[in-house]
Amino acid sequence: MPADIAQLIDDRPADGVFRVHRDVFRRQDVYAREMDRFFHGGWVFVAHASQVPNPQDYLTTSIGRQPLVVMRGQDGRLRCFHNSCRHKGALVFHQRRGNRRTHVCHYHGWAYGSDGRNLGVKGRAQGDYPAAFDDDSHDLQPVARFAEYRGFLFASLAAEVLPLETHLGDIRRFIDMAVDQSEAGLEIVPGAVTYTYRANWKLQLENSTDAYHFTSTHPSYLRLLDRRSGMAGRTDVEAAIWQAGGKKREEMMGSFGFPNGHALVWTTSPVENHPLYARLPELRARVGDTRAEWMLRTRQCNIFPNLQLASNAALQMRVIRPLAVDLTEITSYCLAPVGEDAEQRRQRLRQYEDFFNPSGLATPDDTVTFEDCQRGFESGEIEWQQGYARGMGRVVRGADAHAAELDIAPDTSISGPFEMSDETVFHALYRNWSRKLK
Ligand code: FES
Ligand SMILES: [Fe+2]
Repeated sequence: MPADIAQLIDDRPADGVFRVHRDVFRRQDVYAREMDRFFHGGWVFVAHASQVPNPQDYLTTSIGRQPLVVMRGQDGRLRCFHNSCRHKGALVFHQRRGNRRTHVCHYHGWAYGSDGRNLGVKGRAQGDYPAAFDDDSHDLQPVARFAEYRGFLFASLAAEVLPLETHLGDIRRFIDMAVDQSEAGLEIVPGAVTYTYRANWKLQLENSTDAYHFTSTHPSYLRLLDRRSGMAGRTDVEAAIWQAGGKKREEMMGSFGFPNGHALVWTTSPVENHPLYARLPELRARVGDTRAEWMLRTRQCNIFPNLQLASNAALQMRVIRPLAVDLTEITSYCLAPVGEDAEQRRQRLRQYEDFFNPSGLATPDDTVTFEDCQRGFESGEIEWQQGYARGMGRVVRGADAHAAELDIAPDTSISGPFEMSDETVFHALYRNWSRKLK
């Protein structure tokens, strides 16, 4: 068994080899180092600006083990702080979100404003504090770095990180593709679903970009689509792919791997049931034919380490929070263009409910499978996974024609028929993983 974490990824493109060792998913020391390097040591998604739209709004969130709060001050500015009282460390914010002018710590009553400033130390005048106490700041501790990309808020507990836009690189173009669906931008539909599964956090990152599992993990969903395919007013775009008898139309897929672990899988699919379809002429005029058509493709986007944007009929945002090497929390949101008309919003919500979340038709299949995998990892006897080779004979270094039409520069590109179900999309994740974890 390799003791050295760097040896847990066997990446030899010249030999046609890319292997991931099972210790990546099960070793405590590996998990501890992931927490330090990726979560406590780099950019992590913390909130969407539409969750805190008004002055004095706040939202509790976290990076790794550290609870945080994102707040909008009276001045309208967004800030992000450690959710920890400067006196003795207690959580100051206990609700998921809210709106308050002042926040009083339950332990000894220190008070903070919506800009994080300390507004009062209870009984300060009677406290006989020495002068040195007054020299200290008693304000909430801001995170080391906090930045926004088009409404998506990221924070870093470490100061020495790349600028956010450099960290994101060209995966930003796919955030743009979500945000630009309306001139008024994107919003989170109120409500969120949080659930856990008993397996490693990277299984969720892999699964969303894993086209290969779809037909075998979700047969009950596919059977339902078959049954609905003769029904009027069905809500699902995917149904159009599957015609009666499970015969599939000719569709294309492809993927891009980017620096810093980001990745994206795209597939073409019939567009007539897409909530954006009616607005295609307007989108073409505003963002151009190429980007408008890409907006109607299915896109599964991983923004390393903890954010996923799943754009099919609906637009889902998933936030991944590792709780232990074999326990992960997911919070799922429905995103939508601001100002969408009521019928399109209704269609979007029905499609979102149909597929996603513990109450949907697909997510439970996936999470049960993650738990099956984690159980299968238990024995140390089997060392290497064999799930990273599909497509290696076809993958190209750099941009292919699809990347070129979007003017993006991925590290790797691949495209082919839907059945190719490429696994090279995972390589970006593990190349970044081994480079940063060494
Ligand atoms: S811990 Fe907050 S006031 Fe003491
Ligand atoms: Fe799935």
